[in-house]
Amino acid sequence: MKKEPRKLVIKTKIILFLILFISNKAISASSFPIEESFQIFHPEYSEQGMVASQEKTASEIGAKILKQGGNAVDAAVAVGYALAVTLPKAGNIGGGGFMLVWLNKEKKSIVINYREKAPFAATKDMFLDKKGRVNVDEITTSYNGAGVPGTVYGLNLALKKYGTLPLKKVMEPAINLARNGITVTHALSISLTESMKHLQKNEESTRIFFKKNKEPYNPGETLYQKDLANTLEEIANKGTDAFYRGSIAKKIVEDVKTHKGIMTLKDLQDYKAIEMSPIEGTYNGFTVLSVPPPSSGGVTLIEILNILENYDFKKIPFRSAEYFHILSEAMNFAYYDRNNSLGDPDFVKNPIEKLISKKYAKEIFQKIDLKNHIPSEIVQKEGIRRESNQDGNTTHYSVVDKFGNMVSNTYTLNYYYGNGKTAKGTGILLNNEMDDFTAKVGAANSFGLVQGAKNSIEPQKRPLSSMTPTILLNSKKEAILATGAPGGSRIITQSLLMITGFIDYQKNIASLASYPRFHRQLWPDKFYYEDGIAYETLEVLKKMGHDIERVNPYGSLQTVQKNIENRFLGSSDPRSEGDAAVGVW
Ligand code: GLY
Repeated sequence: MKKEPRKLVIKTKIILFLILFISNKAISASSFPIEESFQIFHPEYSEQGMVASQEKTASEIGAKILKQGGNAVDAAVAVGYALAVTLPKAGNIGGGGFMLVWLNKEKKSIVINYREKAPFAATKDMFLDKKGRVNVDEITTSYNGAGVPGTVYGLNLALKKYGTLPLKKVMEPAINLARNGITVTHALSISLTESMKHLQKNEESTRIFFKKNKEPYNPGETLYQKDLANTLEEIANKGTDAFYRGSIAKKIVEDVKTHKGIMTLKDLQDYKAIEMSPIEGTYNGFTVLSVPPPSSGGVTLIEILNILENYDFKKIPFRSAEYFHILSEAMNFAYYDRNNSLGDPDFVKNPIEKLISKKYAKEIFQKIDLKNHIPSEIVQKEGIRRESNQDGNTTHYSVVDKFGNMVSNTYTLNYYYGNGKTAKGTGILLNNEMDDFTAKVGAANSFGLVQGAKNSIEPQKRPLSSMTPTILLNSKKEAILATGAPGGSRIITQSLLMITGFIDYQKNIASLASYPRFHRQLWPDKFYYEDGIAYETLEVLKKMGHDIERVNPYGSLQTVQKNIENRFLGSSDPRSEGDAAVGVW
């Protein structure tokens, strides 16, 4: 009798040892499990593909396209148009973004850069007042805050080159939603309520997004977007030109002119989205693909990963004070480079090779003090500290199809609902992407980013972005994960936390989306964190010299994964609707 418990303990130990042995064996870049049942959050599973976006109806539309035989690009374009209807705060056709595509058969990756451009009449100092100060209102809420939109060009280009279905087919669900109305979700109702002041500065936005009495819609009520339905239908029937040259272009320009904006028909006619090669790096045996300038996302992400590769994370527990410290110090150094060395490659030379080199990363790692925070003024002498007033914006979605193709797409209006202006008669919300430029060297933008001259405003230039749609390849060069997030300057570090947690600590994608986040960006010299990091850990960080500041929950990681058994996993951040990862069976 007495011996039984001891036997049980020995048996349990053997089983535990075997589990650890087997899982350790399995953890290599070529075969990656990450499905432990002992994590708190769990991804969705499916056998035919997966779509993760910030809004469930849009994800379902993408999943349906996959089920009907469309590929990941078809689904991604359908989701892009659907989100313009169902997630009007960030889904859009009046903004821009970056799509990273992995074509599995060809083992090839492409970036579609559909970032907005500054109009021809834009000037370097256009947002400075008489005293030389940045006119924040003008850059964020006027018609001149809008860059020339790229979304329609970008989505249609992706479909034409890498999709398999006709434009009409992938746009049909979005048109129907806009015309027949969407049921207002709790999330949409809250979002419209929060942005009421911003949107109600514009008659057309008030008319479309609020009830006749100007009150926000309640959950369960129906929001119709008839003008948007007509606009989408016009694009579906006549293609990209309808937006950039046809009646839609004319309506946009007319409204811009009425409000003394500078965007002209020529700006729209000359707009082109372009194909680029991704930024490529490696991290502990995995290949990391992301997007190049004019987004800073890929370069900064890979620079940070290269710095971190110099440290053996097996030595320290996940989310220990040391972990937070090392990651956040690496962020600070990389954000210095982000802010001062990058801009639109059509206008400035970007030292990409240096910034993503292992040698440079090693030099930075050697500067990091493993015990103490290095104040930002040592990393960079001067810096103006305007707090970020935007903790949310943009949206990301990821798609994987049964053929192993992946799409990682981030697009944006910049602020939620962009500049708040809906171009009359079109249903199109315009962006305020001009605030991503350096309006004045050394002055911070809405995300608190203090940027340099390389990102100054010039006609036809694209503002530097932080969007970081990313795809991971294993050592057999198979795409195994696509991820990305919204959140302005905090986009890059969300993708980073997903990748390091996945590779270094073998956490599943749903758990990784759920952990309280943290972020550093050099200026302001603060360690930003979400509620939920242990008090004792924060005390250690304070002793290391970190000025810590709790911020509201931010961002929204949308991740899909293909595992070794060719099963598909998806995770939609619980900070958004949470259940918007939709599998295909
Ligand atoms: N508008 C946010 C970004 O592109 O970084």
